Order: sequence, then C-alpha cells, then structure tokens
Amino acid sequence: MFSIFEKSEKVVKYEEFLNNVLKEDLRKELERRDKLYEDIAAHSQLKQTIDCIRKADLTDGLRTQVDLGSNFYCQAHINCFFITAILWLFPFCSRQYADTSFPYIPLEDIPFELIHFQGNSETGTEDPLCPVLSPKLSGPDFSIHKWIGEKGSEVLKKPEQFAADLNIKSGGVWHPEECQAQYESVIIVPYRNRYEQLEIFLQYIHPFLQRQQLHYRIVVVEQMDDRPFNRGRLLNIGFKEALNLGSPNICFIFHDVDLLPQNDYNIYACTHQPRHMYSSVDIFRYHLPYRSLAGGSFSILVNHFEEINGFSNSFDGWGGEDDDFSFRLHRKGLEFCRFDPQVANYVMLPHKKEVPSPDRFGKLASKKEEDPSKDGLSTLEYKLLKIEYKPLYTHLFVR
Ligand code: BGC
Repeated sequence: MFSIFEKSEKVVKYEEFLNNVLKEDLRKELERRDKLYEDIAAHSQLKQTIDCIRKADLTDGLRTQVDLGSNFYCQAHINCFFITAILWLFPFCSRQYADTSFPYIPLEDIPFELIHFQGNSETGTEDPLCPVLSPKLSGPDFSIHKWIGEKGSEVLKKPEQFAADLNIKSGGVWHPEECQAQYESVIIVPYRNRYEQLEIFLQYIHPFLQRQQLHYRIVVVEQMDDRPFNRGRLLNIGFKEALNLGSPNICFIFHDVDLLPQNDYNIYACTHQPRHMYSSVDIFRYHLPYRSLAGGSFSILVNHFEEINGFSNSFDGWGGEDDDFSFRLHRKGLEFCRFDPQVANYVMLPHKKEVPSPDRFGKLASKKEEDPSKDGLSTLEYKLLKIEYKPLYTHLFVR
C-alpha cells in the first residue's frame, strides 16, 4: 500500500515527466510535421512550374542563362527530352493519387446526405423545385490551373461586368431563376491583405456555385486592425452578422480565400453531419494530413455551430483554431464527415506561407481543459465598422 504522501510524490513525478518530456517531444514532432508541410508546398509549386513549362511552346528547347559567377553568364539550352523525362518520372516520385484510407461518403450517397431547404423567399412558390443534383454539374475541372499563379489575373473580368453577366445581385447573392433552389448557403470568408487571391476566388467560385443551383451569398469578413489575424473570431463574427442578413435556416460554409474546389459534385450545402469539405488538396499531394483536420473549408448547420459555441476567439495568429474547433465538435459527439477524396479535392492558390503561431499547441492543450461555453459565440466582442454590398460579395469591416 502507498501512503498518500508517496502517491502524491508519484503524481508530481508523472506530471514532471509529462510536462518536461512528453510535451516537449510532442512540440518537436509537430514542428517536424510543419516542416514536412512546407516541403510538400515547395514540391507542389515545382509541379505547377513544370506544368507551366509543359503548356508553353518549347519546340526550340528552353533557353535560359546560367550564372558562371562574377556576373558572367552563358546560354543554356534545355532540351524538351529532359523535360519530358522529368514529367514522366514525376507521378512515380509524387504519388499524386487521392488518399482513400479514411472513411468518406462515396459519390453515389452524396444526394442522400444533403439537407434540403425547400422554397426560398425570393423565388415564387409556384416554381418547380430544382433537382437534388443539378444537371449542370460537370465533374472535375481540369482547367483549374489557368486560375493559378501569374495567369490568374489574366482571366479576370471587372467585378461589375462579371456580376452583370452572371446575374449576381448586390452583396454577392444569387439563386437560380428556372427553379426553386433546394439548398441555401452562406459562404463566410475570413480575410485580410489578400486582394489578388480574393479576386480569383470570387470569379472562380460564383460560376461553381451557380452550376450547383444553390441559393447563396458570399460574405467576406475583413479584420481591420494590425493585431495578429484571428480566423476563428472572424468566422464567429461572420456567422452572427450573416444570420441578420438572411434566413435563419441557412447552411454555413467557412471558407479560406486561397482554396478552389476542383469538382462540381462537392456540393456547397450542408449534410446531416458537419462536414470537412476537403478530403484532399494539392499542396498535401492530395492526401489528408491528419484525420481530425477541420481547416480550410467546412460546412455546418446553424444549430450545430451554436451547440459548440462556435470557434474559440483566443487563437491569434496562424493555426490551431481549426484543431480546437474539431475538438469542440468531438466533445459534443458531433463527428464530422467528408466526401469522397476524388470529389472533395482542392487546389490552393500559391502564396507565401504564414508563420505559424508558436503558442498554438499550448493554447490548444489548455483549451481542451476548458469549458467551451467560456470562449466562443457567447463571449464574442467586436465592432462592425461598416457593411458594403459589393457586386460579388457582402463586405464586413470589423475590429
Ligand atoms: C494547424 C492547423 C492547420 C493544419 C494544416 C496545423 O498544424 O494547427 O491550423 O490547419 O496544420 O495546415
């Protein structure tokens, strides 16, 4: 038998071991994982460069100047043969096939998982309902690379012209004219300082959502101060404000500005379970980095989001808020689902990687001990500086 004293000594030793050894090991492992993500991103950039070279006309070979040092250059001719060889070997090196090693909803089951909101306020009730799956869906978009990198800006139109051509209403609102949409969603985009990406995102996503025959609105929530970017807090604000703008039954989609969905069958409506909308993304070689990942794009019903008290408002800087969100759902028994990785695949617009917040793991650990009702929608404080109804989105300026 141990005395109470001996027991507490053991507990103290165990705690010391946990704090000094295990937590430190975990931190190092997570750092290693982040480094790996960076390598993967660099790899993906390389692939995009190779794709660009492939698309360019290289009948004369690729001409480039090689620095011999001390400002002397010689002309190098890279034969197409080498490029072809690199391209041929690339798939073997990168294994760019979607990872299917986790549970997901197969394509044929998607229609049964979607939640229908029949009859929106703006189309007449006499109109027939749109089909469960729109006839305009066309599967994977192989032309997506034209939106990426330098070329992205070349395909952009003036927002006013784009809105007029696609019949988008002020504030980035749209619904089909020919039938009553069965799905109604609001897409909330947390935002600061990424105007070029925002332009591309908007002109890519509007036609994508229209092919799905949704009734939707795009809301961009811009953080107007110089404090570290707080994604979770912006999404909470977007949620609260968007509820004032439309029907209380809408489906919420939280979406990063740098992600473009590649397949029309990835329907931007809610499923019975909350849904992490990307099962695979190019920067992770179309693999899911870890099962509990809930970042990037996520769809959720209003009551589920309220049940978990939304996101934590405490994650300043890059990372962690989505992991905490994932844990909040899990704690309430709201396990989330994903669609088939061949359907739920995304491309990330290239950008300089943000510096991850160094204290996110510590915060994550302490949040796991805390009652989520103490930090989230219920404790959200902010100032709405103004709302602008722009041609392609509703713009909330917040602090
Ligand atoms: C971060 C998450 C992020 C994920 C994938 C994690 O280390 O905490 O916020 O979504 O990496 O990039």
